[in-house]
Amino acid sequence: MTRFSRALIIGDSGGIGGAIADRLREFGVEVVGLSRRSDPPLDLEDEASIEQAIGAQKGEFDLLFIASGLLHDGEHQPEKSNRALSKTGLDRAFAVNATGPALVIKYALPLIPRDRPAAIAALSARVGSIGDNRLGGWHAYRASKAALNMLLKTMAIELARTHKQLVVTAMHPGTVDTTLSEPFQGNVPEGQLFTREQSARHLLDVLETLGPEDTGGHVDWAGKLIVP
Ligand SMILES: NC(=O)c1ccc[n+]([C@@H]2O[C@H](COP(=O)([O-])OP(=O)(O)OC[C@H]3O[C@@H](n4cnc5c(N)ncnc54)[C@H](OP(=O)(O)O)[C@@H]3O)[C@@H](O)[C@H]2O)c1
Repeated sequence: MTRFSRALIIGDSGGIGGAIADRLREFGVEVVGLSRRSDPPLDLEDEASIEQAIGAQKGEFDLLFIASGLLHDGEHQPEKSNRALSKTGLDRAFAVNATGPALVIKYALPLIPRDRPAAIAALSARVGSIGDNRLGGWHAYRASKAALNMLLKTMAIELARTHKQLVVTAMHPGTVDTTLSEPFQGNVPEGQLFTREQSARHLLDVLETLGPEDTGGHVDWAGKLIVP
């Protein structure tokens, strides 16, 4: 069961985003998905494409779910040392993980209802917690997720004035078996690697329980608040 009736998912082509889209459809939710593979395409590194792809949407969405993100690609791997920092690595992580999602919300705001419950969720990561950072490393990914969390919190404060039934939240999906986590799954303790379907179920179950009183937070797949 879900309280949502129409969802806009950014990154439905990804592992977790695809499973979230499937589960919402099973519940009868009308789902629109946008990514670099959709028509029109949405590239988080290109503001004009964000504006156009979202501007092409008609009607309201009571759920905006940003399930996109970047940890590694052919050019960049997560940093293992301070020496590994590069401008292009930092720029790309910030563009895809922080700037892009904030612009998505900016352009999607006219589509979010003001007179009924609604949710904006974005997949963040526990490693974006400054207070919880004991291991170091993964500088660009960690910092871009911390920036995402701050952008969501700041936007949530203003939105609480205009969208009184809206919750804006960052969510940590757990460690999930996708292309993004694949190279790092060796470090995951036995039994702690979720399937995409398990993670989607946990995330949507938690989202059902969140309301305007929870806006601006970062919760994990079990519904527990993560320290900023
Ligand atoms: N998997 C995990 O263990 C884990 C743990 C913690 C947090 N997370 C977070 O969960 C989210 C989803 O991760 P995932 O594991 O599902 O990864 P994934 O399977 O690699 O999916 C990544 C998604 O991001 C989209 N994307 C990447 N760059 C983009 C760009 N420039 N413009 C538009 N879309 C872009 C991809 O779309 P296209 O390439 O099709 O455009 C794809 O839909 C990420 O934010 C990640 O940081 C994952």
